[in-house]
Amino acid sequence: MQTITLLSDLRQARKPLPGKFGLVPTMGYLHQGHLSLVERARAECEHVGVSVFVNPTQFGPSEDLERYPRDLEADLRQLERLGVDLVWTPTVEEMYPAGFQTWVTVENVTAPLEGKQRPGHFRGVATVVAKLFNAFTPERAYFGQKDAQQVVVIRRMAQDLNFPVEVVVCPTVREPDGLALSSRNAYLSPQERQAATVLHRALTSAEEAYAAGERDAELLRALMSSTLASEPLAREEYVSVADPETLDELNRVTSGALLSMAVRIGKTRLIDNVVLTRKAETG
Ligand code: PAJ
Repeated sequence: MQTITLLSDLRQARKPLPGKFGLVPTMGYLHQGHLSLVERARAECEHVGVSVFVNPTQFGPSEDLERYPRDLEADLRQLERLGVDLVWTPTVEEMYPAGFQTWVTVENVTAPLEGKQRPGHFRGVATVVAKLFNAFTPERAYFGQKDAQQVVVIRRMAQDLNFPVEVVVCPTVREPDGLALSSRNAYLSPQERQAATVLHRALTSAEEAYAAGERDAELLRALMSSTLASEPLAREEYVSVADPETLDELNRVTSGALLSMAVRIGKTRLIDNVVLTRKAETG
């Protein structure tokens, strides 16, 4: 495994690698959610690259950029073990040199949900992912369903800007009690960690109502909200039942609908989602 800081070195190392190249973009502090993407890339591609970069432009001024957890040594050990070929750990100065002023803005699908709560977030995400696509020139790029809107935004960007990259989405990896793995779970106190299971419980309650035949989206939103309200440490930011491509809120629920939410547990902001499937329909 080659661990590389400079873009010029990355291009050199990438050039001679034949066959399909799979890229897994990350912000590090890797857990089994990230590693599941790496394993999938390893299984499907001749060579695998991972970026570890806490991207400052996707954090708002009052967000957790400074305290975002980092442990590069542990990350590199795990990536080495999984047989990754290239790891790029650029500096902020390398990614955004003095004079940087070009941004990728994806329009409609960044307006609701996370985009509404975190202005500028997806501009930062789309810009850095476009730069990662240009640096690694992957045939495939792997993203987690955990960040459902991010996947919609990246797909749109790749298509609109003609990146010859296949975007592959991998299922959300969860703890045994349903909590979706996230680097931000490290912020939770033991009591908050317990309370954080309410996101999955709220999604499951809506999923079960759908399986039992409920098709009124507003009712599913109300069900998710009331489940969240039952947990004293949780504060809802939004709950949504949306079209999985346009992210427009639905009136009638259909198979494939995206149920998603953002919730504060103490100071920690958590997101989670499920996609309704035919399986849920039959129970
Ligand atoms: P980060 O939060 O580090 O996540 C990197 C990738 O891992 C994303 O595609 C995310 O959806 C996926 N992931 C995180 N938790 C997961 C889980 N529990 N199960 C499955 N996949 C999971 O997302 C980002 O970084 C950044 O926005 C990035 C795309 C790297 C751009 O800076």
